[in-house]
Amino acid sequence: MIRFESITKAYPDGTVAVNGLDLEAPTGKLTILVGPSGCGKTTSLRMINRLIEPTSGTIYLDDQPTSGMDAALLRRRIGYVIQHAGLFPHRTIVDNIATMPLLLGESRQKARHRALELMERVGLPETFANRYPWQLSGGQQQRVGVARALASDPAFMLMDEPFSAVDPVVRAQLQEEFLRLQREIGKTIIMVTHDIDEALKLGDQVAVMRVGGKLAQMATPSELLTSPADEFVADFVGRDRGYRSLGFTAAAGSVAVGEEWTVQLGASAAEAQAKATGAWVLVVDAGRRPLGWAQPEQVHGELRKEHLNLSGTSAQASGTMRQLLDAALSSPSRRGVVVNEHGELLGTVTATDVVKAIEAEPHLETAR
Ligand SMILES: Nc1ncnc2c1ncn2[C@@H]1O[C@H](COP(=O)(O)OP(=O)(O)OP(=O)(O)O)[C@@H](O)[C@H]1O
Ligand SMILES: [Mg+2]
Repeated sequence: MIRFESITKAYPDGTVAVNGLDLEAPTGKLTILVGPSGCGKTTSLRMINRLIEPTSGTIYLDDQPTSGMDAALLRRRIGYVIQHAGLFPHRTIVDNIATMPLLLGESRQKARHRALELMERVGLPETFANRYPWQLSGGQQQRVGVARALASDPAFMLMDEPFSAVDPVVRAQLQEEFLRLQREIGKTIIMVTHDIDEALKLGDQVAVMRVGGKLAQMATPSELLTSPADEFVADFVGRDRGYRSLGFTAAAGSVAVGEEWTVQLGASAAEAQAKATGAWVLVVDAGRRPLGWAQPEQVHGELRKEHLNLSGTSAQASGTMRQLLDAALSSPSRRGVVVNEHGELLGTVTATDVVKAIEAEPHLETAR
């Protein structure tokens, strides 16, 4: 656990970067600090590992005040990842990752072995080991930054905009991988971002800060979306928050899934016509996994791959209301495909069914 107690930081020029901050980042959870530029996120983070000293207040690490700790020892317990990875340009990737263990007196061989293990963990091929940072893409460098922070197996991690220097596609990929990694390692993490979508996607809890270094609200992503504390938070979380909050609302059991007739590839035009509801028929494989929708009137002879319309998304019955609604709205037949965890067809839902379920149960349990 990392705990801020009445933390204030005033810089010598009088700027109050952080003002009376009380905050608790629970053990094993990912806490996100989010807020507009200049609201004191980086300052807050750097006070934890004492790269910046607070003007007043106390920060506790597992109930021990950090002010009494040796700063070097403190930093060894805390992994730190910064925006542009901050790698040593003249050291190879493997040496960058092994920096801390080597400093701590581990043997070269052991440190190298561990570094290679970590490379695999964060999705870097072993062949990168002897390259230099400039020979890697931005996203790959970020992975090295994460691996390096994990090298001394710290209980705590601080991450300052770790995914912001890369394009949106790579960013989404790094986020997914990081979530998967965190599920395995369960570190106590504080991550800074100014991107509310990233905060809502990754955070177990999210602290929204306002300029002047004050906490506006600390809540789970779904609470932030459904009950923002004030206008500032509501604005920051965004106008489409009602729709987005459905992304945290479990669909399980609350929407009736209707039966859907199906055909397989190779079916005759007549069979496709007989099984169609309206203009569309759902095509599945031999394992009842949906392949796409087809319009029987376009089928002459037998139903083939070229007849498939692949535009709709499918939703898992155990997924969220948003996925269910999206499946219905994106389906050419306007019937959303619902599958089980093996991808096998359960049936279909209409947007009207989903909206009815949303209206009937406004306080559904959240999905996570
Ligand atoms: N060394 C310093 N001396 C004076 N003022 C500073 C110093 N470092 C930061 N500040 C000011 O403190 C405030 C908070 O800065 P901080 O870097 O913590 O913001 P941030 O939330 O991380 O912003 P960003 O999203 O742009 O990274 C800003 O107004 C900044 O100008
Ligand atoms: Mg910053």
